[in-house]
Amino acid sequence: MSAEITFPETFLWGAATASYQIEGAAYEDGKGESIWDRFCHTPGKIEGDDTGDEACDHYHRYREDLAIMKQIGLRAYRFSVSWPRIFPKGGGSLNHSGLEFYERLVDELLANGITPAVTLYHWDLPQALQDREGWLNRDTVEYFADYAATLFQRLGDRVTLWITHNEPWVTAFLGHAMGVHAPGIKDCAKAIQVSHNLLLSHAKAVRIFRDFNRVDSRIGIALNLSPVTPASDSEEDERAAVLADGYLNRWFLDPLFKGSYPQDLLDIYSERGCAPEAQPDDMSLSDDMSLLAESPIDFLGVNYYSRQIAKAPSNSESLYDQAKPGEAEFTEMNWEIYPEGLCDLLVRLDRDYSHPPLYVTENGAAFKDDREIDGVVQDEDRIRYLRDHFMQAYRAIEQGVDLRGYFVWSLMDNFEWAYGYSKRFGIVHVDYESQERSLKKSALWYRDVIETGTVQFHGEES
Ligand code: FCB
Repeated sequence: MSAEITFPETFLWGAATASYQIEGAAYEDGKGESIWDRFCHTPGKIEGDDTGDEACDHYHRYREDLAIMKQIGLRAYRFSVSWPRIFPKGGGSLNHSGLEFYERLVDELLANGITPAVTLYHWDLPQALQDREGWLNRDTVEYFADYAATLFQRLGDRVTLWITHNEPWVTAFLGHAMGVHAPGIKDCAKAIQVSHNLLLSHAKAVRIFRDFNRVDSRIGIALNLSPVTPASDSEEDERAAVLADGYLNRWFLDPLFKGSYPQDLLDIYSERGCAPEAQPDDMSLSDDMSLLAESPIDFLGVNYYSRQIAKAPSNSESLYDQAKPGEAEFTEMNWEIYPEGLCDLLVRLDRDYSHPPLYVTENGAAFKDDREIDGVVQDEDRIRYLRDHFMQAYRAIEQGVDLRGYFVWSLMDNFEWAYGYSKRFGIVHVDYESQERSLKKSALWYRDVIETGTVQFHGEES
């Protein structure tokens, strides 16, 4: 038996990348150093001591990459701007050749009928700002607002989809509590303060965006969200799941949609002396929260990869412990493959946050990619992963969720942060020696999905 599902005609099919992961040209044309340049050049931080110095050399090969997007038939392309390419020192004098690169990219995307979706911040903070405490310093919020204003000014006549931050949870907690991402700080209180400053910088950027009054343009933020399942129905595990959801999801969703932090988490952080504080001293936390409340987003970007299973914590410092699922399949990242989580998540966002317009701004998987026929990577596992997640997105739409588009992560294999080049997420294969690109089987499959708007299921999988 086979079956098929058909998406709405206006559904925006895309693919996503990020500046540091693909561009290379790390020290060219006046670009300043970013915290990821610094982090990668610190021995022992990245698997194999890989760096993004060259990455996919997209900075020089963007035309070729555009031709590939065209070949796949992408309707939209989500990319991020490297802040230190625009302002090498974070603020001050503008680097024109950096800005011109993105102007050319945007113009050529549009000339090819591909909608650009621009992320302002996908983690590559100018190192000059980190030298002054980066996101912990409230000044960075103002620098970000100026940087955002510059891009709205220069690209806003052509770019209609904007994303302020990519995954502020990751910036805050992987970068400042676990220290596995740049800038490599390990201090939970700092991470919480950073999360607050990131939210605030988002709100300021949204406010500035509104001043431009571009009626056809929309602005949002991309959050990494995971539905949380309790490991058992014990009261302790259920409580752990609520807190995990608070820590991962509600800590960002509630300020964005309700203008307040979730009380349960705020109470815990206050007890521990690490609740966020407003700065400078003449402002109160509620001033900051009103700014958030008065700067609503036009859409929420959802980055979905997997769910979390939570159990009661084994020590008093943790909010919860992570449990492994019993029987499950995993990607190369060791992330459980759990497509149903996407539908659950979208439906929950719709229900709990007043029916917001949504985009899946990232979804995809790393696999071994070790089978090739006639130069085409036979990544059937990736096709299955995407197909099953598309199905769950479709189920959400059927239930009334306002899901408007889907960006596959990633257009091409690239630098996967602390994992270096060891994990391949692309639907396009990149040979890092020769920089040769080739479409994987998943790219060819995706091309058909986009062309027909239809996803086919065969046999018992339907
Ligand atoms: C997300 C990031 C993206 C990529 C994927 C695999 O957390 O936004 O840059 O690394 O994970």
